[in-house]
Amino acid sequence: LPLEGLQAGGSGPLYLKLRQSLEDAIQSGKLNHGDALPPERDLADYANISRVTVRKAVDDLVRDGLLVRRHGSGTFVVKPVSKVQQSLSRLTSFTEDMARRGLNTHARWLERGLYHPSPDEMMALGLPADALVARLGRLRIADEMPLAIERASISAEFLPDPQAVTSSLYTALDKTRSRPVRAVQRISACNIKDPDASMLGVAVGSAGLSIERVSYLASGRVVEFTRSLYRGDAYDFVAELTLSE
Ligand code: GLP
Repeated sequence: LPLEGLQAGGSGPLYLKLRQSLEDAIQSGKLNHGDALPPERDLADYANISRVTVRKAVDDLVRDGLLVRRHGSGTFVVKPVSKVQQSLSRLTSFTEDMARRGLNTHARWLERGLYHPSPDEMMALGLPADALVARLGRLRIADEMPLAIERASISAEFLPDPQAVTSSLYTALDKTRSRPVRAVQRISACNIKDPDASMLGVAVGSAGLSIERVSYLASGRVVEFTRSLYRGDAYDFVAELTLSE
């Protein structure tokens, strides 16, 4: 890293100069996306400045989303993302949305099993307390980039074997002839907290989109109640607006 001579020349606070050097190193590719930053102690020794100054510069870059601290493993250069544009009016699955963009998806399973419903699930799915729901919690990854955390609840009537969902939930529902045909979705803004932030690889407090979907069969029965958290820097929702008659 070109950190020599930070002390000499130029005016302005030292931490801003260090911040600039680190930013230049990221922009020029001397530090690659995903690379770990050397420990703050080493940076301080190397540039002959105090650790407090190093910490201040690094804090600044973390706040601006160029670096991310991962608990226990260090500070890393954040991978810039190209935004996914998602139509707001079509009822599609995550797997289909990504496939249309040529991206491969996979999931890290956070939860997959049958449970008695929570009060929220009872209300959303219209189930009694002694019913069973399939819960699918996934970190959804597209081409190695974590995009969203999704927690879906499906009445066991439509998905008796949650283990049957290996990749796409909607494909599995297709097989039991219970793929939804209509959905209501609510999107709200949020700040991503830990542990979600570290799973998604973003700084704590980054902008997120919280999405709830309740979807229905043609008969009007509710099939799915899903709560998702999308990275705000990776997702754009696009709606086509028409004049109402
Ligand atoms: C989107 C929706 C979820 C839905 C999921 C199904 O991500 N927000 O409500 O459950 O698609 O995707 P897949 O069939 O890939 O599991």
